[in-house]
Amino acid sequence: MLADLLPEVSDAELEQFRQIMLTQYGLDFSGYAPASLKRRLGSVMKKYGLPTLALLNHRLLTQPEYIKYFINEITVSTTELFRDPPAWVALRLQALSFFSSLAEIRIWHVGASTGEEVLSMAILLQESNLYERAQIYATDIDEVSLEKAQSARYPIRLKRLYKQNFHQVFPTIPFEKYVQEEGNELVFDKTLLKNVRFLKHNIVTEAPFEEFEIILCRNLLIYFTPALQDLVVTKLVESLVTGGILMIGTKESLFWCTAAKRLAAINDVERIYRKRR
Ligand SMILES: C[S@@+](CC[C@H](N)C(=O)[O-])C[C@H]1O[C@@H](n2cnc3c(N)ncnc32)[C@H](O)[C@@H]1O
Repeated sequence: MLADLLPEVSDAELEQFRQIMLTQYGLDFSGYAPASLKRRLGSVMKKYGLPTLALLNHRLLTQPEYIKYFINEITVSTTELFRDPPAWVALRLQALSFFSSLAEIRIWHVGASTGEEVLSMAILLQESNLYERAQIYATDIDEVSLEKAQSARYPIRLKRLYKQNFHQVFPTIPFEKYVQEEGNELVFDKTLLKNVRFLKHNIVTEAPFEEFEIILCRNLLIYFTPALQDLVVTKLVESLVTGGILMIGTKESLFWCTAAKRLAAINDVERIYRKRR
């Protein structure tokens, strides 16, 4: 069991880490919840056999080329195709039709990770005959994940789960309509990414994009302090058109967010909200 223990991180070392990230790389980690940030740092230190955060801080100061990979190591990239399938069913049945008469539908995935959420949306739009009108932005701070997202290729071990989730949303459509097996990989139809722009973007520190009909920011707020959740949700609500949809993770909440009063619930259980008129 001792081998499972992560190296400890003191508050002072954590503060030094935050300063380095801010001053050297312009990355603001002050609003990330300290407990989960310390855990992630501990697992990176363990991976490289670094007993103190000071050693990792030194590496970050002296090896700028490491930052791209470090961001991938420090962020949680867990995702799935049609993650939480009932939320996608709700989005399809209760929200997509609002936009069916528009010539253009702008969609933003904030914290898109390795792209499965984007592919889920693309399939949903395709099956609703809306894909050709969609302009999709997929953003993340993690370039390594975004590179994987653009390949639309995933390890074959994920097939069972992804197929199961897919069939919860589309019980009668064959999974193979969108996905092929190639050796050890599950390869998605690349035309699903035709209208997608993948961009490195930090929702905490950078100006948001604008005028979206749908914004998904799922399973990202959970890593932020309540104050940062409030700030980010305010930004996202500003980026929605009136009547636009915000979807957050099913385990997340708008409880701390002052901008919640500008949203009406479409489906509170599945965390789908609409910007009020
Ligand atoms: C747990 S994943 C969620 C993926 C997907 N949205 C889902 O629900 O399955 C969280 C993602 O947020 C990204 N992220 C963390 N901080 C971010 C920030 N400040 N700006 C943009 N993306 C961020 C991480 O790199 C990671 O890919």
